[in-house]
Amino acid sequence: MTQIHSQAPVPSEKKVMLSAVQPSNRLTLGNYLGALKNWVQLQSQFDCLFFAVDLHAVTVRQDPKELKEQTYRAIATYIAAGIDPNSVTLFAQSHVPQHAELAWILNCFVYMGELGRMTQFKDKSAKQDQNISVGLFTYPALMAADILLYKTHLVPVGEDQKQHLEITRDIAHRMNQIYGSDLFTIPEVYIPPVGARIMSLQNPLSKMSKSDPDPNSAVYLTDSDDQIRKKLKRAVTDSGSDIVYSEEKPGIRNLIDIQSAITGRSTQQITDAYAGKQYGHLKVETAELVAATVGPIRNRTEELLRDTSYLDSLLKKGAEKAKTRASNTLKDVYERIGFIPRG
Ligand code: TYM
Repeated sequence: MTQIHSQAPVPSEKKVMLSAVQPSNRLTLGNYLGALKNWVQLQSQFDCLFFAVDLHAVTVRQDPKELKEQTYRAIATYIAAGIDPNSVTLFAQSHVPQHAELAWILNCFVYMGELGRMTQFKDKSAKQDQNISVGLFTYPALMAADILLYKTHLVPVGEDQKQHLEITRDIAHRMNQIYGSDLFTIPEVYIPPVGARIMSLQNPLSKMSKSDPDPNSAVYLTDSDDQIRKKLKRAVTDSGSDIVYSEEKPGIRNLIDIQSAITGRSTQQITDAYAGKQYGHLKVETAELVAATVGPIRNRTEELLRDTSYLDSLLKKGAEKAKTRASNTLKDVYERIGFIPRG
């Protein structure tokens, strides 16, 4: 007998993917290759949320006008890099108050010792000898809230965020053990095989960072083709002249990694192609590849920034969608920990 269903079959639901960037400065090539490029590649397979973490940005002092501009710029850059604004949820973290609310709760379930071991906190506080904000210390609890609010399955990030993902998983496990294993989804981290740690062009032993005071250390996604060429030309390389991919040649290795992350060719294929060539060849060709990658993103970002009302409308729509989802999770957490339900 034919079975009659009263409802159309529900398509199997996509898993949730979520990620974010701090709008604390212009984004760098490291942010693109370590994060954005992978968001773009994976977006169609997931139910995605991407946002700008302005609440995280104020853990160090920000100029208000700059912060607002960088927040718009971050969202515009996501779109310029290839994020489809019509199918993902795009928003500003401060527009969804549940992030700060859940962060408070998670602060009560994470330990001082755990937060003190975070290398990002140690690095950032070492650069600032006094007035280190409490927010910088509890930063990972807010990041855990970002992720856990949306029952996230996958978080695509660069290598430097791995420890924050581990602490998020630890907090989720801890609370699930107390309040029920279905409280939080335990997120997985996605770190790309290449491009997960692009190094500074001036000191290839440290990460390319948007907060580096030396503008030559990073390629910004706002840089002109000429600036990109100059920065790559000045990139610190190593002694010797052979183009080999090795730990002893971190400067050369970084340029090969950049090429590999952009083109998808293996580091072996790239070094083979440079047999018998000079460092200068590698620098020039890397500069051209970077310029060809950054150029269209830069131009499209500028176009989008000319009309912030379009970005405002996306952010409004995104915040509404995010709020509905986030408030369901928060309500569940509040009930399970014993708060009287709001009337
Ligand atoms: P942020 O703003 O420092 O960096 C944004 C993304 O870029 C990656 N990244 C890099 N990848 C490769 N090479 C580099 N040199 C490089 N520099 C940065 C970062 O790993 C990251 O994926 N705490 C986060 C923002 C955040 C977040 C979240 C991320 C807040 N809540 C929830 C994911 C999920 C941060 O400061 O990223």
